[in-house]
Amino acid sequence: MKLSAVILAAGQGTRMKSNLPKVLHPLLGKPMAWYTLEAARQVTGGKLVMVIGHGADQVRQGLGDLAEYVLQEPQLGTGHAVMQAEPVLRGKSDLVLVTYADMPLLTGETLGRLVEVAQVHDDPISMLTVTTEETRGFGRILRNPAGQVRGIVEEAQATTEQLSIHELNPGVYCFRSAWLWQALKRIMLSPKGEYYLTDLVGMAVADGDVVQTIDVENPDEVIGINTRLHLAQAEALLRQRINNRWMLAGVTMIDPASTYIEPEVTLGQDTILWPGTYVHGKSQIGTGCVIGPNTIIKDTIVGDNCTLLASVLECALLEDHVEMGPYCHLRKGAHLSTGVHMGNFGEVKNSTLGPGAKMGHFSYLGDATVGAEANIGAGTITCNFDGTHKYPTEIGEGAFIGSDTMLVAPVKVGAGAKTGAGAVVTKDIPPNSLAVGVPARVIKELKK
Ligand code: UD1
Ligand code: CA
Repeated sequence: MKLSAVILAAGQGTRMKSNLPKVLHPLLGKPMAWYTLEAARQVTGGKLVMVIGHGADQVRQGLGDLAEYVLQEPQLGTGHAVMQAEPVLRGKSDLVLVTYADMPLLTGETLGRLVEVAQVHDDPISMLTVTTEETRGFGRILRNPAGQVRGIVEEAQATTEQLSIHELNPGVYCFRSAWLWQALKRIMLSPKGEYYLTDLVGMAVADGDVVQTIDVENPDEVIGINTRLHLAQAEALLRQRINNRWMLAGVTMIDPASTYIEPEVTLGQDTILWPGTYVHGKSQIGTGCVIGPNTIIKDTIVGDNCTLLASVLECALLEDHVEMGPYCHLRKGAHLSTGVHMGNFGEVKNSTLGPGAKMGHFSYLGDATVGAEANIGAGTITCNFDGTHKYPTEIGEGAFIGSDTMLVAPVKVGAGAKTGAGAVVTKDIPPNSLAVGVPARVIKELKK
C-alpha cells in the first residue's frame, strides 16, 4: 500500500519570540523539522509534503530538498492545511500520514505502529492518542460507553466534564486517501474561523465508520514545541535518547549528561567519552578511542584506538592510533595518518602527516605534506600565506625540523634532512643535509 506524509508547519510559533521560524530552531545541530521528516521518511518511502506559511521562504531554504513544499496562505486551520496537499498527492498514494513539524520527539517506530494499524483495517482514520495528566492544551478524545471513539473536542470548547478526560489527541493521523480528500471538503468553519482537521473524526463516526486508535506509550514523544522552554526540554530528551542508544551499543560515557552526540554521528564499540565531549555533524568515531574531556569534533572521521584530549577537530581525517592533545586544533583538510602524535598547542590545516609523524609542541602546519616518521620540532611554523596567496610546504620522510624553524612556502625539505633551531628556510633543502641560520643554508651532508 502506498503511503505519503503531510507535515504541517505553516503556523506562526509566536511564543518562541523569534525571527527564525519555529520549525528551523536547532535541536542537536539539526532544524527541529528534520526530526519529523526523518521519522516520516522511516515509514513512508513515499512523498513527504510540508505545508508552509509563516516564514515560508526561510523554511524552504532551511530544509531544502528534504521535503516538497505547498503553501498555505492564509492559515485557516489544520484541516485547511491538509487540503493544500491535495493537488500534489491526489491519486499518488493509498494512505496519507499527517504529522507536525513541531513534534520532534515522535519516533519512526510509533509512526510505524500507526501505519501498520491503518494498513490492516480499512477504516478511513487511524490516529495516535496519549493518556497523560499533562494536558498541554491538547484536544480530548470522546468515547462512548462501549469505548469507541465518538469525536474530538478542542480544549477551548470542552465542557468541565470533558476537560477531566486525560486521553488526548496528539494530532497525528493516518487516513485512507480516497476518503480524506472528499471528507476535507465537508469540514465546516469553526466558531474561531478555522477548518479543524479534528472534525474528520466526528464525520467518520457519523458515516458509521470505526476510528482506530494507537496509544503512544511514552508521552514525551508527543511534546509539541511552543516555547524555548519546550525546546530545551526536547533537546535534553533527544540527547538522552541518542546517548542511551550508544551506551547500549557498547560506548562508555563517563557522564552522559555532559556528552553531546548529534543524530548522524556514529561511534565504535569500546570507545570512551569523557565529560564535555561534543560530536557534531556527520562525524564517525572508530572503536577503542578515548575522547575528552573537553573535546569538540565536527564532521571528522576518527579511526580506531585514537586518544584525543581537550582538542578541537573540524572536517579532519584521523587514521588509527593517533594521539593528540591537550589543546590541539585540526582544521579543514587535516589528515593524520596512523600513529601520528600531536602534543600540546598544535594547529594543522589542509595538511597530511604521514604515518608516525610527530609534532610535539606549539606548531602550525598549513598546506603541508609531511612524510612518515618526520619530527616537527617545538614551535615550527609553515609560513604558507604571503597576504595574497597560499603556498605548499613539503617535508620528506624522516626529516627532523629543529625547534622554532620557519618554513617559508613554497619550500621543500628533503627526506632525512635536518634544520637547526631557529632556521628560516626560504630555499629547498636537499635530502639528508643539514641547513641552519637565517636565511637557512646547507652546511653539511648527513649520513643516511
Ligand atoms: C491541534 C488539534 C488538537 C491537538 C493538537 C496537538 C486541531 C483543530 N486541533 O490543535 O486537537 O490536540 O493539535 O498538537 O487540529 N498548522 C498549519 N496551518 C494552520 C494551523 C496549524 O500548518 O492553519 C500547523 C501548525 O504549524 C502546527 C500544527 O498545525 O504545527 C498544529 O497547529 P496548532 O495551531 O498548534 O493546533 P492546536 O490548536 O494545538
Ligand atoms: Ca499546538
